[in-house]
Amino acid sequence: MPQSVDDRSAFSSIDDVASRFAEAGYITDRRLATTIYLVTRLNKPVLLEGPAGVGKTELAKTLATVTGRRLLRLQCYEGQDETRALYEWDYGKQLLYTQMLREKINDIIADAPDIPAAVARIEGHGAVFFSDHFLVARPLLDAIRGEQPAVLLIDEVDRADEALEAVFLECLGEYQVSVPEIGTYTAKTPPFVVLTSNNTRDLSAALKRRCLHLFLDYPDAERELAIVRSKRTGLPEAAARQLVEVVRGLRELPLRKSPSISETIDWARTLTVLGVDELDAGVLADTLNIVLKYERDMQRAVEVLPRLVDPNRELPGAGHSHEHGSDVHAHDHGGDQGHQHEHAGNNGRDVRAAMDRPGRHDEGYYGAPGPGPTRRTEPGQGQGSRSFAALIRRRPG
Ligand SMILES: Nc1ncnc2c1ncn2[C@@H]1O[C@H](COP(=O)(O)OP(=O)(O)OP(=O)(O)O)[C@@H](O)[C@H]1O
Ligand SMILES: [Mg+2]
Repeated sequence: MPQSVDDRSAFSSIDDVASRFAEAGYITDRRLATTIYLVTRLNKPVLLEGPAGVGKTELAKTLATVTGRRLLRLQCYEGQDETRALYEWDYGKQLLYTQMLREKINDIIADAPDIPAAVARIEGHGAVFFSDHFLVARPLLDAIRGEQPAVLLIDEVDRADEALEAVFLECLGEYQVSVPEIGTYTAKTPPFVVLTSNNTRDLSAALKRRCLHLFLDYPDAERELAIVRSKRTGLPEAAARQLVEVVRGLRELPLRKSPSISETIDWARTLTVLGVDELDAGVLADTLNIVLKYERDMQRAVEVLPRLVDPNRELPGAGHSHEHGSDVHAHDHGGDQGHQHEHAGNNGRDVRAAMDRPGRHDEGYYGAPGPGPTRRTEPGQGQGSRSFAALIRRRPG
């Protein structure tokens, strides 16, 4: 495999990764820093999976920043074909050139006795129009052919069709791209490749095998606090700490959309703007729309906010939160929605359609608990992986 001779992007150690990322405003933990270190040392792509807003995309951007590499981003979507990912021919330019070269072309075919002879003559010159000059490089080819080393971000790879996934495989295995009309391009300096997935469909075993795998979960309290701190939101330390605990408490609720890290940051900034130094349930309830995006989620959250702000507080009905949670959960599965649930998950398109369907409030969403009674647990690590596991468990076959 080609290795760069003078690549300034190398990290000297795992600690070096952690400190350079922290300087750029991205807070890692040991596992994350180790994985990044290995990505850069083994020249292996990394597949990042996990709930929304845990820093998957940001990780790739930060990797580009701290290594001084250019960031090439391929945003995947359904129905995307390889011309958007690899390369395409610049038809407009080809046409323009044939117009401009009309006289020359006329010269070439001037003494051809008939049409087959004229076509044969033009064919002899056709390669000119399928050369590097008329090739439009899309991110995959650009990452491999470009002179400058790159970080290639293949974002939300689970949204791409399987046919395109096969193209990724081919390209990432050898860091090569073949253009039949021209030949094979091989990377001088292999790009650092980051793939992200929200797990709306299973990725092929072949793709997973070629990648280092990292599940990015919601961070633990200390790291989330460090992230909030690093964003200089202006919220006093004690309030920020309390806010992080409240958000972690919200993530334990059966919500349609759990608050992500970016929402914790937004909430902290909002409270600062409002001049809040000490948290109380009232001000949090008034600003809850910063972190929760569905009315029903807000209603659920408002009920438990007083207890989340002050865990020692005795509330009428407090201590029944888990019964309440499972109640809500059960309602959500009633009738038609339960039915839809059974059918969702046959393929990525179904899962996505189910996730986009308004009014669905079940464990198909990250941050919502799996099937069965909901039990209030202390917010801890693994909040995202539980809901992630629930999503996987529901898959047929
Ligand atoms: N470890 C971190 N350090 C600093 N900021 C972070 C970290 N993780 C997440 N963030 C913040 O959270 C925001 C959201 O992260 P990002 O967009 O990367 O999430 P994502 O996992 O790609 O989500 P999605 O699946 O919705 O695309 C970032 O812009 C960044 O401000
Ligand atoms: Mg993202």
